[in-house]
Amino acid sequence: MQEKVFGDAGRRVIIEDCLFGEEASIIVLTDSREVIPLAASQDHKRALDHDSGPNTGGMGAYSPAPVVTEGLFKIILDNIIYRIIHGLTKEGIGYNGVLYAGIMLTEEGPKVLEFNVRFGDPETQAILPRLKSDLLEAMLATSEGKLNRVQKTGRLNWDARACVCVVCASGGYPGEYEKGKEILGLEEAEKMQGVVVFHAGTQRLNGSTAQRPKIVTNGGRVLGVTGLGNTISEAISTTYQAVDKIHFDGMHYRRDIGQKALKTAGSS
Ligand code: GLY
Repeated sequence: MQEKVFGDAGRRVIIEDCLFGEEASIIVLTDSREVIPLAASQDHKRALDHDSGPNTGGMGAYSPAPVVTEGLFKIILDNIIYRIIHGLTKEGIGYNGVLYAGIMLTEEGPKVLEFNVRFGDPETQAILPRLKSDLLEAMLATSEGKLNRVQKTGRLNWDARACVCVVCASGGYPGEYEKGKEILGLEEAEKMQGVVVFHAGTQRLNGSTAQRPKIVTNGGRVLGVTGLGNTISEAISTTYQAVDKIHFDGMHYRRDIGQKALKTAGSS
């Protein structure tokens, strides 16, 4: 606080309950009446393997999240999502859009860590490759207050496969980091079956030829490398094979994304 490393945000201290458990991200579309959940996912907030190191915006994600069983998903929707939407309505606040609840799955049940009125990053990179329904249709219906049209089946359709996203970050992130490092191997990774490379902090350099544009780093979290697999284990393996093809100076990433899902799936 003395050095004001968080700027204005560091002027106040809030003392909160310390919650223990696994985190899950529940993202829904709502038009204040209907709610359409996206598939559950799990983020990895710490910079280093085994959830160590400083907090980040998210170093990787996977979907589905086996820890969110069908029963637990229903509890979260009934006790948290619908309640906040009813609460907003009661206060005269109409909200059409994306509602993201960061949930800690404690021994006493799910507890809210945060709400965001946006998609989760990198959770969405692990969720959308599994979406078989038309995202545009669902988002238009959300903004026009016509979710009941998409709601015919009560849900969106999902690919049963698992999806894993590994974030490749700049050296130094989440602290200070350098920009402008050339990224190699993108095309090779993107050619792989079931792989999508999402750009986050990148820049296409002017003057590059159209055929082989030069892409450089331009942010802390640079790429979200995402892979699908019939099992979570397959998705992990595909994603890390794609990550192996990519290189830039200082690149770092977690090597344990998806391991928690493997553990939960193995123990259920
Ligand atoms: N991954 C955390 C967030 O989007 O806030």
